[in-house]
Formats: sequence, C-alpha cells, structure tokens
Amino acid sequence: MNLKDKIAEYPNFPKKGILFRDFSPILKDPSAMTVIADEFTKHFHPKNIDLFAGIESRGFILACILAARYNKGMVMIRKAGKLPGKTTKTSYTIEYGKDTIEIQKDIIKEGQRILICDDLLATGGTAKASAKLIEKVGGKIVGFAFIIELTELNGMKGISKYDCKSLVKY
Ligand code: PRP
Ligand code: ADE
Repeated sequence: MNLKDKIAEYPNFPKKGILFRDFSPILKDPSAMTVIADEFTKHFHPKNIDLFAGIESRGFILACILAARYNKGMVMIRKAGKLPGKTTKTSYTIEYGKDTIEIQKDIIKEGQRILICDDLLATGGTAKASAKLIEKVGGKIVGFAFIIELTELNGMKGISKYDCKSLVKY
C-alpha cells in the first residue's frame, strides 16, 4: 500500500488558508494497521519501549496500533477536562489554533520509557507540549512516531533531541 496516495487533502479546513491532510482513507484500508506497524517496527526496537502515549484524538489510533503490535501498554494524553483524578496540564499552539492537554499524574512510573504517537506533525506545538507533560510526570521519552509530517512547518526542530520517525512527508 502506498500511504501517500491515500491521504486526502481539504483546502481551507478547519480555517481559511489551512490545507488539511486527512488520513481517514488510510485507516479504511484493511491492510492499514499492518502496514503502519511494519514501518515503525523497522525503526523502534521493542526492548527500548515500555509504553506508548497517544495524543487525543487522532494520536490514540496510532498509539493503539503500535501498542498492539509491540505487546505493550498505552496511555492517553487528553484534551483538558476529560481525565479523572490528579492531572498535570500544559497549553500550546498548533497550526490552526490553541489548546490544553493533560495526563494523569500517576499513570506513568518514574523512568518508564515512552514513545509518543500522533497522526501528524505540523508546527510541533502539540508534540513539544506532550514531551513536557510526559517528562513532568517522570517518563523518559524514547521518541516520537507520526504518520504524516508537514516539513515546511519545521515541527521536527522543537523535538530534534528525540528519536523521531514519520512515514509520509510533505
Ligand atoms: C492535530 C494533529 C496533531 C496536531 C498537530 O490535532 O492530530 O495532534 O494537530 O499540529 P501541530 O504540530 O501544529 O501542533 P488536533 O488538535 O486538530 O486534534 P484532533 O486529533 O482531535 O483532530
Ligand atoms: N494538524 C495540524 N495541521 C494539520 C493539517 N494541515 N492537516 C491535518 N491535521 C493537522
């Protein structure tokens, strides 16, 4: 399967001037989960990872695909106000807006090695904020996994100290 051929483009969504890259048609393909998992297993070794963290909402999908393949657990980084118990949060800006994400304070044990997953890297605002959160609660970041990377927005710059892998670049 050629992943790039299956990414749909929507000009001026969700705001004027944004070209929205939609990975929905990839997921609809019955071989999608296998192809995506195969690609990342070539890059990240299971012995270096304890948990996958998915960023709400599209990041949950990739985190679950990889958690299932690697036979590891998955934790959720959610948009603010959705997680019970004690949480830690951080605010950030993305290509088309701003938001706040949070994580449960005791979901990660000190030193657990985390691979952060999202569908798409644009400005990197979300990725940087999620790294901050994971480190705040004691996690050690193994790296980042993205399906799509919008290279012209330079999101990798902010997370270059980590091991980052994206599958489709624009
Ligand atoms: C999208 C995408 C990434 C983020 C990337 O999420 O899934 O998380 O934007 O943008 P950035 O690199 O500029 O931060 P969005 O906040 O739209 O949420 P969604 O997954 O619920 O659609
Ligand atoms: N998240 C941030 N920028 C995006 C884009 N251009 N397409 C899809 N999701 C995004």
